[in-house]
Amino acid sequence: MTKITFYGHACFLLENQGTSLIFDPFLDDNPLSTAASEDIKADYILLTHLHVDHLGDTFKIAKAHNPLIISTFEIAKICESRKFRAHAMHLGGKHNFDFGFVRVTPAFHGSGVPGGHACGFIVKFFEHVIYHTGDTCLFGDMRLLGELEDIDLALVPIGDNYTMGIPDAAVAVDFIRPKQVIPMHYNTFPVIECDPMGFKKEVEEKTSAECIILAPGESHNL
Ligand code: NI
Ligand code: MN
Repeated sequence: MTKITFYGHACFLLENQGTSLIFDPFLDDNPLSTAASEDIKADYILLTHLHVDHLGDTFKIAKAHNPLIISTFEIAKICESRKFRAHAMHLGGKHNFDFGFVRVTPAFHGSGVPGGHACGFIVKFFEHVIYHTGDTCLFGDMRLLGELEDIDLALVPIGDNYTMGIPDAAVAVDFIRPKQVIPMHYNTFPVIECDPMGFKKEVEEKTSAECIILAPGESHNL
């Protein structure tokens, strides 16, 4: 069984069989987070890009627990230059780790580093496949990714302004065809305020996915 915990914004922790993996650990400066970085133990940190609301407390957690940081080449090199353990990947690449595989997907967004590219991740974490899209607009190749991988759970931004808003995010779910979807990247700041119930309604009317809304600090078992 994999437990997924939402900490607000784009930060999710996966735990199974004593292994923990965190996406975009924005905690201490995250107005929605119910946890502090010192509460988090992670074996792996996956970074979609280096904007501050995604890099978050990566270096604090890395200092405390020496996790492997998985990201794009440019970001992995920055982590290594600070003496942290990192594994560099890039768009389209897939690699096996102890927990399963990571496939790096495109995300149409700034990378936060010169010459970089933002990304998303399709992660096989033990028996489940989870697609964290990262910060992105809607793009048609999400349909292709949904055909290439059998996605159990999608994590998609709905807050608009910097990423997809609700109508586009519902189309993304139709393209990705996950069994379940959890919305992210909303209500952290006034500019990305929205009602996730509107997303749930649209997803469940237009797709076969189940939409699960997690309050920050809440967990869901896959
Ligand atoms: Ni961003
Ligand atoms: Mn963001």
